[in-house]
Amino acid sequence: MASLVSSWSSEVKSIPEKYVVPLEKRVNADVPIGKHIPVIDLSQSSTHCIQQIIKASADFGLFQVINHGVSETLMVDALSVCKEFFNLPIEDKAKFVEKDEGLSDFEPSIDQRPKLYIEKEYTPNKDGSNTNNVKDTVFWKDTFGHGCHPLTQDVINSWPEKPQKYREVIGEYALELRKLSLRILDLMCEGLGLEVGYFSQEHSQTQLMVTHHYPQCPDPNSTIGIGEHCDGALINLVQQELSGLHVRDKDGKWFGVEPIPGALVVINGLILKVVTNGKLSAGVHRVVTNSTSDRTSLGSLISPIECTIEPAKTLINEKNPPLFKSFSYTEYLGYYFSDTTEIEAALKPYKL
Ligand code: OGA
Ligand code: NI
Repeated sequence: MASLVSSWSSEVKSIPEKYVVPLEKRVNADVPIGKHIPVIDLSQSSTHCIQQIIKASADFGLFQVINHGVSETLMVDALSVCKEFFNLPIEDKAKFVEKDEGLSDFEPSIDQRPKLYIEKEYTPNKDGSNTNNVKDTVFWKDTFGHGCHPLTQDVINSWPEKPQKYREVIGEYALELRKLSLRILDLMCEGLGLEVGYFSQEHSQTQLMVTHHYPQCPDPNSTIGIGEHCDGALINLVQQELSGLHVRDKDGKWFGVEPIPGALVVINGLILKVVTNGKLSAGVHRVVTNSTSDRTSLGSLISPIECTIEPAKTLINEKNPPLFKSFSYTEYLGYYFSDTTEIEAALKPYKL
């Protein structure tokens, strides 16, 4: 089995070359914590929530929510079964590595079967150029992901048997997170004048649970956990236990997203930007590694599958012409995973 970063990272004193970010692309792992990144209390009146969500979505495309109704015990249990999964002996994880594909970048298959993703090695051309559209640095992380909607018994049976509580805890967590995602999307609808439930059908046909495990790193400033990107989904709700997630504000400045126990980070995806015709931005974010501890994050990504994506008709008028033409989600996904040359590369073919 190809090696997971976590299987060798504690033994190395210097970073293997393919994990070293080229000097011109290095990021500062110690950006200030963004105390001004909104932390929205969902137990307030919906009018207050809506105002704050709309503003945060324009300023950052990202915010945190508290008092959101998902029990703290369930959150703690969910993150801990995911951590336990990564701590299992290699034999228990090996069956989730695709044998025929070998090393695979994070590109979930359409059926969202459980998969352990091992970063593709970067092989430059002889002249040193990189024409295969493969990013030039390998991320310092291991990732495990699988679908969880619709939550059929077959889907649950495809998940890890170990840790013993994985299926039960993640099953419950997935349902709660889906419910919360749809509630947040409904608040967005209210704020924008879209009918409530606009996102609850074909825009949210799938839900992917993704655990990223970023092992402790001897030199965080020369590596990256995940390079800057926008999520390809509609919306992503992330649970983080430690700092490491950075967001770029609308002026291009980077800030750390404060880890708050019990809070969830809401990251607007590119599809939300398109459907709201740019009224809500997609959060531009990245993850840095740290030298003192492993960091595990747990994300729940809601996405369409077979759907035509376009700006909602009610948001289009003479003053607000469409910024994007209609496109097929599956076609867009192909661009999303193959072209990482710039943050919104996947939307480029559709911009008007
Ligand atoms: C992602 C992501 C953030 C994190 O999965 O797309 O950005 O904190 N995760 O791991
Ligand atoms: Ni992301």
